[in-house]
Amino acid sequence: MSISVEDIKRIIIEAGQKAALDTGNEPEPHMTTPAKWPLECTVGPGLEGAIACESKVGYVNGAKGWLVYRGYDIFELAAHATYEETAFLLLHGRLPKERELKKLKRKLASYGKVSATLRVLMGFPVEKMNPMAALRLGTNLMRQEFTFCDIDLDESDERRRKKTVEDDYIAMDDDSIAMETVPKGETKATYEFHQAVKVDDSYGGNELYDADGIEACYHVIAALPTIAAAISRVRRGLMPIDPDPHLSVAANFLYMLTGYRPSPVEEKIMDVSLILHADHGMNASTFACMVVASTLSDIYFSIGSGIAALNGPLHGGANEQVLKMLEKIRSHGDVGDWLDEKLMNNEKIMGFGHRVYKAYDPRARVLEPLAELLTENHEDGKSLLRIAKRLESEMIDRVGKSKGIFPNVDFYSGIVYTSLGIPSDMFTSVFAVGRVSGWTARVLEYLNKNRIFRPRAIYTGDFNKKYVPIEERHRDSIPG
Ligand code: ACO
Repeated sequence: MSISVEDIKRIIIEAGQKAALDTGNEPEPHMTTPAKWPLECTVGPGLEGAIACESKVGYVNGAKGWLVYRGYDIFELAAHATYEETAFLLLHGRLPKERELKKLKRKLASYGKVSATLRVLMGFPVEKMNPMAALRLGTNLMRQEFTFCDIDLDESDERRRKKTVEDDYIAMDDDSIAMETVPKGETKATYEFHQAVKVDDSYGGNELYDADGIEACYHVIAALPTIAAAISRVRRGLMPIDPDPHLSVAANFLYMLTGYRPSPVEEKIMDVSLILHADHGMNASTFACMVVASTLSDIYFSIGSGIAALNGPLHGGANEQVLKMLEKIRSHGDVGDWLDEKLMNNEKIMGFGHRVYKAYDPRARVLEPLAELLTENHEDGKSLLRIAKRLESEMIDRVGKSKGIFPNVDFYSGIVYTSLGIPSDMFTSVFAVGRVSGWTARVLEYLNKNRIFRPRAIYTGDFNKKYVPIEERHRDSIPG
């Protein structure tokens, strides 16, 4: 069957209509009216229920399974908008006009080329690193490549610019670097760099060389796809590919990962995935970014901490684990038996459950039919999807209604990404590439009314202990 972009839109619209029928969508008054600080709320461990700030960026109604970015239903944006429009919307609070979108695309194309960052990054054994650790490292290297933040602030702007370009900017005159990983079938590897990044100053003023403003946000949004794709290729023994300035963020990302220019349908599906992952309230990685930003650190440090938090299997790392789990269930043979054993041992089933959603995650409502569409002609994908659907129905029977545990965004995303040719070790990085627009939007918003985050812990330890000299400490033994 040949699929068109219109088919994808129709699938998303239908998923949205089904969600509205199943759970409805109404704002909760206590979560959508301005707060009178100080606020009283009931807080559980892990800050469950805590209200940390007000935000206009996005809203999650967990009981209804309803997700909103800046007033727009997620289904509306996924069907009709592009990732670039969504990133603009999150950052600026409204959809871009035609001229603004053109400028944004030019800027992202310009900032997506991070030759000096890749050059230094490849000096590290990227092929042996966790891809998210390498992505985080790349973010720090970008900070060095693009900003003046570590240079003496007393110098005039012009001097700072000159000094950085001449002295501190990683030299671009030697235009190649030997790579540690030799591409398959080659005896040596050299990555060629083309011209240095040409910065487009025509939009956003001259804050370009600062690390804590809107330009830094554009930098990370544009460059994370390039860095993530380069990491993936080096891990597979392939040469990184420079971004094509004529492609969208989604198409470019797929192109840089796979080496071929995607079809409009593949581009649309990647675009939809990035949109679905772009923002999601005060999730762990967004909160990590905000905590770091609230100390008046900067955007690059802040995004680096978001990447670190996202990596964990209880958060963005679950998508990779889901695929591994489905493969294990396939070799086990019986979904029900496998699940009984796991639940009996109190093990968490990857891709299910959510701190906020106690209804079906709206993002999974979109990704599931897309996974179905993409695996139609792929036996392996089809068999994994069959297992996934069986697991979903068994989980809902056993714990869905009683505990409010349903598939989350990570449950079907891996099957979609695999069908697009993305290796499973890169799934969490794909998540980061989409989420960076939400991270930056929420950080910028919070910085407008910044107050350093500083919760407290209840101390349950001892008091009044007396110091014991080391030679007398033989009585206490510490396990391990
Ligand atoms: N499988 C089985 N049982 C679960 C699951 C699950 N995936 N998730 C929650 N439960 C059960 C718990 O055992 C607990 O049961 P109990 O009340 O009988 O003790 C109850 O549901 C509440 O669970 P908590 O762990 O308290 O929920 P919490 O809000 O702390 O955790 C989390 C949320 C971390 C997402 C959890 O559901 C989980 O570990 N899921 C699996 C990992 C995963 O898919 N993470 C991705 C989340 S989406 C995202 O971050 C992008």
